[in-house]
Amino acid sequence: MVLNVCVPPLEDRERQSRLDGVLSRALARREVRVVRRAEELAPRPGERVLFALALDGAGQNLEYQRMLARLRLESGLLEGCTGGLIVDGPGELYTKSTAAELALAMNGAGCALVGRPLVEATGSLFNFRIQAKNLSTDLMGAYQEAVRELTERLLSFAFPGRERPRLLALHASSHHTSNTMALWAQVRARLSPRWEVEEIGLRNGTLSDCSGCPYTMCLHFGERGGCFYGGVMQEAVYPAVRQADGLILMCPNYNDALSANLSAFINRLTALFRQTRFYEKAVFALVVSGYSGSDTVARQLISSLNMNKSFYLPPRFAMMETANAPGEALAAPGIELRLDRFVQGMEETFAL
Ligand SMILES: Cc1cc2nc3c(=O)[nH]c(=O)nc-3n(C[C@H](O)[C@H](O)[C@H](O)COP(=O)(O)O)c2cc1C
Repeated sequence: MVLNVCVPPLEDRERQSRLDGVLSRALARREVRVVRRAEELAPRPGERVLFALALDGAGQNLEYQRMLARLRLESGLLEGCTGGLIVDGPGELYTKSTAAELALAMNGAGCALVGRPLVEATGSLFNFRIQAKNLSTDLMGAYQEAVRELTERLLSFAFPGRERPRLLALHASSHHTSNTMALWAQVRARLSPRWEVEEIGLRNGTLSDCSGCPYTMCLHFGERGGCFYGGVMQEAVYPAVRQADGLILMCPNYNDALSANLSAFINRLTALFRQTRFYEKAVFALVVSGYSGSDTVARQLISSLNMNKSFYLPPRFAMMETANAPGEALAAPGIELRLDRFVQGMEETFAL
């Protein structure tokens, strides 16, 4: 399968050379189509797309900005593609935020992302110290291996369809007045009868945040299917996540972030993640902001669930709406069509 490798060049060739070296080793003997300019970005549906960005000292790359503009403006530019990313920066900052911004734009242009789609290289490569130790290699060796592994996975991965997809719906809202819950009711009503849906409410007081136990302790409890804190996570949520083929999270924007209960859910997934990877489980979201900023919340979901926790990100994984007063979301112009399209995307994700 041909791999589209998008490498927007930096003017500073020296800054670019570390990434170029890693890429040329990882892609040797692969069939690749190299895309250096925004105008050349035209993968065919079904192809794989790897973005590989080097950043300058300001955390920028001007040709990448032009590519980003096309991704944001041309909603079908990466239709049917599956993607991954590499971001190589000169310092300790901007790599993760750039990756999350790019991932959201790729996803909005119709691209799915494999679980753990990002190889991030900070200036010092110090972020590779655990992988390097585990692989008995140096930091550069760990970086090289991560790019090789991502490329391999990106080319071989296909999300499995399901005859009867099991969907776990997680929320932390009041049913009566909530806009996110009103959207969820509409989504649920549109799903075909083949879906098995389970809903779990994570209201205030039902779960504690992760306490950051030492690694071995987390592993110990995780191996027994639980977590130090137990409670609703251990009794209901871990078993439901294990069983599910897909999650859908109802996400009101609270201070330009996920609400505390949903953040706690994601943090507490760590114990389960120690046991298993979630590459074959898809994540969807309904994001509602009173005023603005739904993209910030969607980026947080991508960073935490797709980049960190390895869930598969289907194309246009999040429906993002602006609504504040009760009932506003369902009264928004065009809402019926957006709901139809969102549910069609969910159906297509699991098509056999
Ligand atoms: C604690 C809190 C913080 C909020 N912060 C923001 C915000 O930063 N930006 C925004 O656009 N709306 C914000 N809102 C408004 C909600 O996003 C909005 O009311 C949305 O409809 C909530 O979804 P719900 O109706 O499902 O509860 C906030 C609401 C609450 C309760």
